[in-house]
Amino acid sequence: MTTDTTTTDTAPAAPGSGTPLLDARGVTMRFGGLTAVRGVDLTVNSGEIVGLIGPNGAGKTTFFNCLTGLYVPTEGEVRFRDKVLPPKSFKVTAAGIARTFQNIRLFANMTVLENVLVGRHTRTKEGFWSAVLRGPGFHRAEATSRERAMELLEFVGLGHKADHLSRNLPYGEQRKLEIARALASEPGLLLLDEPTAGMNPQETRATEELVFAIRDRGIAVLVIEHDMRFIFNLCDRVAVLVQGQKLIEGDSATVQGDERVVAAYLGEPLENDPGAAEAAEVEAAEAHAAEAEAADAEAQAAGAQATDAEAAEAQATDAEAAGAQAENPTDTAAGKENDR
Ligand SMILES: Nc1ncnc2c1ncn2[C@@H]1O[C@H](COP(=O)(O)OP(=O)(O)OP(=O)(O)O)[C@@H](O)[C@H]1O
Ligand SMILES: [Mg+2]
Repeated sequence: MTTDTTTTDTAPAAPGSGTPLLDARGVTMRFGGLTAVRGVDLTVNSGEIVGLIGPNGAGKTTFFNCLTGLYVPTEGEVRFRDKVLPPKSFKVTAAGIARTFQNIRLFANMTVLENVLVGRHTRTKEGFWSAVLRGPGFHRAEATSRERAMELLEFVGLGHKADHLSRNLPYGEQRKLEIARALASEPGLLLLDEPTAGMNPQETRATEELVFAIRDRGIAVLVIEHDMRFIFNLCDRVAVLVQGQKLIEGDSATVQGDERVVAAYLGEPLENDPGAAEAAEVEAAEAHAAEAEAADAEAQAAGAQATDAEAAEAQATDAEAAGAQAENPTDTAAGKENDR
């Protein structure tokens, strides 16, 4: 397989996109003898939604971990707003990068609202003594935090579940709650690791709208996802990781049309309209179902004829009745065949 990590494959930034926010250069992550991420360059500009795709084990989550201080890259550098990122998660969050996790990480026994309040922690100035003494400053800060957390819950569509325990939320809503919690840290860049995993098609469409709305609030988004329709609908640019290396980066059409991506990941070309393949599948399934239904109806009708015929045959006492039965012998035979 040919890999090409040169910048010639990189499409220009989407029109209207702003200044560079994230600038990862030559990021490599090794675990003993395994190189999970190898020399990856990636930028995200303000106002952009960038996708990161690739087969299972390609290194996508590891790359996210390198961007968020969970791992210190073996080689390379990550800059955010022109500053090298500190190698600690909470400092990265404070710098303005928030994330969600592929394996949901919520406080299961806290309420939905409390989970979002935890996310605001990096933005509240109130320290330990303020919390212990619970003076007016603390109460003011707490009220502001709750108001902001509620606003975020409304934004993701979970306002009505603020008092529920997070462990009681359906899976799709837990993913939304993770997004609300990440937004609570008031990031400039949001990293989403498979935000639609386990969601039904309606939830996935709603998440698509949510990501657009997040971008419209001035937050850039870098998203990992296996749902190609979601990715190609949403992203200004898409980067493809294969075996830890960036194979190509470009707009949706460029990436979908790249033979190496098709060979390494997509398997078969998607139609220009990302929804077309899915629509065709649904259409074929519906046609198949209709055919099966028609065959069923036919069989039933034939069966009914056979039953009628048998009943009539049993009742027939003279040659005339037997003759009437013989009028449609083929159908009767077919019906019996189907009954077996
Ligand atoms: N902490 C670790 N120690 C050792 N190996 C690791 C570690 N984290 C990830 N890996 C390995 O690095 C490779 C990349 O894994 P990663 O989870 O980043 O892939 P991914 O692209 O996110 O895959 P998926 O689509 O399945 O989530 C895999 O071979 C994985 O086993
Ligand atoms: Mg992953």
